[in-house]
Amino acid sequence: MAEWSRRHYLMCRPAYFTVSYEINPWMDTTVPVDVPRAIEQWEYLRDVYRDLGHTVDEIDPEPGLPDMVFAANGATVVDGLVYSAKFRHPERAAEAPVYLKWFADRGYVTYEADRVNEGEGDLLLAGERVLAGFGFRTERAAHDEARALWKRELVSLELADPRYYHLDTALTVLNGADGTGAAEIAYLPRAFSPASQEILSDLFPDAVLADDEDAAVLGLNAVSDGRHVVHSPKVVRLAGQLAERGYETISVDTSELLRAGGGAKCCTLAVRGRGARAGDTTT
Ligand code: ARG
Repeated sequence: MAEWSRRHYLMCRPAYFTVSYEINPWMDTTVPVDVPRAIEQWEYLRDVYRDLGHTVDEIDPEPGLPDMVFAANGATVVDGLVYSAKFRHPERAAEAPVYLKWFADRGYVTYEADRVNEGEGDLLLAGERVLAGFGFRTERAAHDEARALWKRELVSLELADPRYYHLDTALTVLNGADGTGAAEIAYLPRAFSPASQEILSDLFPDAVLADDEDAAVLGLNAVSDGRHVVHSPKVVRLAGQLAERGYETISVDTSELLRAGGGAKCCTLAVRGRGARAGDTTT
């Protein structure tokens, strides 16, 4: 059974949430967004983490950056080393410096990316290794930058279905998301190129294999602390598959945020390691 530990997350209230552009197949600018509902769902998610004993910090949302709620894309933090995001689409470009400043202000060691990468959307820690997506958003060359920075083994995985444009929409790290212990994952094989499917089945022969139905509600955009897995209430088989492995499943409705193509994981940036400055809440 997996090891559970307290986590440190960074989240961004969806105060300025809207769908005013379309950069993934989930976004439809003609359907209005219910902001109070998005905020309510987001607060519930934040409070679930806090009730589990995790630390949640909040970064101030900025007007004009509606996708800033998807904190997972803001940066990637491994061993206290912050690798900045560099967004593919100009609509989100201004988010990266805002997130980087949050970390710099707290004394984290920060690195500004040269290569396009969308933070933890495509860079997931799974035990000792980094699993890194490419194909839609993050450039493959960014994987080399990340590898050089963290000095960890990094495995490049090619995404093949535009609905699963970030790695965290196609793959969940169930155990080892904090960089320790044995990695356990769940994923949708079909979301990866044939070569990457082979890599995944070699590295993770015991992985939970999700089906289309569960992936299509962004069921794999889930957050695990090694014991509890927070996921969409719309999953059909996944919760049972996880329970069989001994995980405690907690369903949290993030349907309003799904209008922009994100779920619980997208709203949650893992802060691993600590910054040097006083006032930092990292434990
Ligand atoms: N609208 C956002 C985009 O397309 C959604 C980001 C979802 N984030 C994630 N970590 N998958 O960029």
